[in-house]
Amino acid sequence: MKLNEFHTDTIIEPFRIRSVEPIRFTTMEERTQLLKKAHYNPFLLKGRDVLIDLLTDSGTGAMSSQQWSGMIASDESYAGSSSFYRLESAVKDITGFKHLIPTHQGRAAENILFTTIAGKGDVIPSNTHFDTTRAHVEHAGAEARDLVIEEGKQPRTQHPFKGNMDLGKLEETIKEVGSDRIPVIMITVTNNSGGGQPVSMENIRSVSEIAQEYGIPFFIDACRFAENAWFIKSREKGFEEKSTIDIARQMFSYADGCTMSAKKDGMANIGGFLALNSDELASECRNLEILTEGFPTYGGMAGYDMEAVARGLYEALDEDYLRYRIRSIAYLGDKLTEAGIPIVQPTGGHAVYIDAKEMLSHIPPTQYPAWSFNNALYLLGGIRGVEIGTVMFGKQPDGTEKAASMELVRLAFPRRVYTQSHVDYLAEVIINAYKQRKKLRGYKIVDGPDVLRHFSAKLEPIED
Ligand code: F0G
Repeated sequence: MKLNEFHTDTIIEPFRIRSVEPIRFTTMEERTQLLKKAHYNPFLLKGRDVLIDLLTDSGTGAMSSQQWSGMIASDESYAGSSSFYRLESAVKDITGFKHLIPTHQGRAAENILFTTIAGKGDVIPSNTHFDTTRAHVEHAGAEARDLVIEEGKQPRTQHPFKGNMDLGKLEETIKEVGSDRIPVIMITVTNNSGGGQPVSMENIRSVSEIAQEYGIPFFIDACRFAENAWFIKSREKGFEEKSTIDIARQMFSYADGCTMSAKKDGMANIGGFLALNSDELASECRNLEILTEGFPTYGGMAGYDMEAVARGLYEALDEDYLRYRIRSIAYLGDKLTEAGIPIVQPTGGHAVYIDAKEMLSHIPPTQYPAWSFNNALYLLGGIRGVEIGTVMFGKQPDGTEKAASMELVRLAFPRRVYTQSHVDYLAEVIINAYKQRKKLRGYKIVDGPDVLRHFSAKLEPIED
């Protein structure tokens, strides 16, 4: 008897679970009280009061047995730790950059880079700056300018690489500002604030060519480089047969350096780095690293953190993992789309972004529709996402408030944490919230800081 080989359509989690963490169920009545106590700001909720936590994919993933075993065998030497050299070798192998400056997380790398190279009157173009990147650029006195392609701002438009930089606008900006006022051009892969959308290899190469033509350094915000590599493999002509590691290497080959949060595609709970080619810039950055992070062979990380990241960078590039990862996001996206819920199309790499602007057209942007929908998900199902809209981006440097270009609820997936039945549950709750959307009301901020206000603002619902 010879059976026919067959291929399943179900893409399963490419791991088995050997250590579990219980999650806690609460009633809707309890959640109503808990949210009120948290001043209607999900950032102020306790983790134990959340059933499914999609606040972020940053530092929330599950580590592998390989990572844990590396952590046990780490070298905690203050100077010259072998764990540093292991990390350095992994970073060099994947990015090709000459210098590694470890930091405790991504924003510390941003701080070091922008404090060193940017100043008042400078402009830093990117496809879309993430909020901490923007904050560091502005903190250095410079302007953070977003130049993503038009399709990247239209939630419903289909485009395989909606994270691409608008090359025409980039050249216009350089001509308008002058290359001497642009210390660096950045590109964020994948474009987190624009829906987790990828950037094509062709676009990265073209940005690099423009940067070279004008003599401007080009850096990649590489937080989700592996997910971006997978999208290039699956969507860009000519890359179908290439391995994701080679695609990643090619992406980095066009740049002069990168900032990295190892809490994403480093598959670790903490860590990050700045990596770059210039000897002179590396030396200046190291001076600041010693001041703010630590000695250059550990930066802000323990030896065991560096071991976790050294392994995690390769695990993030594993193709069975990436296939499952990207598919599990699309699986939720497909269910919501079938139910008529508007989401950013196509689904991105690490999160589903629900478009609350159109869905809650009865709530004006200055009453934060995405915030309102996100809170409804918590009340109805104990789910915590994050608003990417006017609360996050509306406050201008001059103190005024301006509606953000999109009102999104981001549901970001921790890596290797939730299973398909968790996702089925999520879809049920979201669809239920959507059915009750006409009952939702806006919010007002009653107290909050000027910078990064979404983290700590206190809000109140606006009653009829
Ligand atoms: N750049 C991007 C594109 C990011 O998404 C983040 C963090 C950072 C830089 C900063 O890295 O947190 O290690 O300091 N994003 C997290 C998020 C917080 O939820 O998207 P960090």
